[in-house]
Amino acid sequence: MTAAAPAIAVRGLRKSFGDVDVLHGVDFEVEPGRVFALLGSNGAGKTTVVRILATLLRPDSGTATVDGFDVVDRAADVRESISLTGQFAAVDEILTGRENLVLVARLRHVTDPAGVAADLLARFDLTDAADRRASTYSGGMRRRLDIAMSLVGDPRVIVLDEPTTGLDPQARLEVWRTVREVAAGGTTVVLTTQYLDEAEQLADRIAILHRGRIIVDGTLAELRRLLPPATVEYVERQPTLEEIFLAVVGDARAEGEASR
Ligand SMILES: Nc1ncnc2c1ncn2[C@@H]1O[C@H](COP(=O)(O)OP(=O)(O)OP(=O)(O)O)[C@@H](O)[C@H]1O
Ligand SMILES: [Mg+2]
Repeated sequence: MTAAAPAIAVRGLRKSFGDVDVLHGVDFEVEPGRVFALLGSNGAGKTTVVRILATLLRPDSGTATVDGFDVVDRAADVRESISLTGQFAAVDEILTGRENLVLVARLRHVTDPAGVAADLLARFDLTDAADRRASTYSGGMRRRLDIAMSLVGDPRVIVLDEPTTGLDPQARLEVWRTVREVAAGGTTVVLTTQYLDEAEQLADRIAILHRGRIIVDGTLAELRRLLPPATVEYVERQPTLEEIFLAVVGDARAEGEASR
């Protein structure tokens, strides 16, 4: 049996802004239908990676493909396959939830914009609020609407840049439920986050971006094997992703400092 072609393949990706060297050779792959979390501290370069994937930014060197299409040479095809939900909500506050969805559906030339909007409103539990202005929505509702908007036209890959930053715990749970539903429908999901529990909860695979490179990439179980289980008397405890993150980032930091 051959493995399915990756939904995303990133190799040797480099990007700097002036003399700010952000990505120094980033490599990762995402299998179709999986949830992939790109984890990193503020300024690690997560948004830079996803903007390159979404063809909003050109890499300096290296390659990235989405659904088999190169992000530079086949940008138009990539844009048909991928939908980016940015770090800052794209929802128009003046419009109702329904109007926001219909607008995006018209822009993406889907047939039956009203029908598509109604389906997505139902799927994301927004039907009751559909005809209220988005300015009256809670943060969680707005984020759900944002994710619903990114699904108009059935993209094969969706990218969520920090989907729950700034949300309260209840709203985060609502967004997590939404992401799980999207993934269950077969859509490939890439999410960036600085919340380790979010990656732990949602992702099939987790990559840690640090100092311009992916320093760890694997399933949670694989990441756990990087640290020996802590043993306290008779109780064995699995390390949390937070402990793994701090251990690997701390190691990389110590190495960087030692080489200076
Ligand atoms: N257009 C730009 N011009 C100059 N510097 C930039 C530009 N975009 C990003 N940077 C710099 O690149 C680095 C990485 O930024 P990026 O937004 O990718 O990080 P991030 O991991 O998404 O951070 P956060 O968690 O804060 O969203 C930062 O130092 C940032 O200041
Ligand atoms: Mg960012």
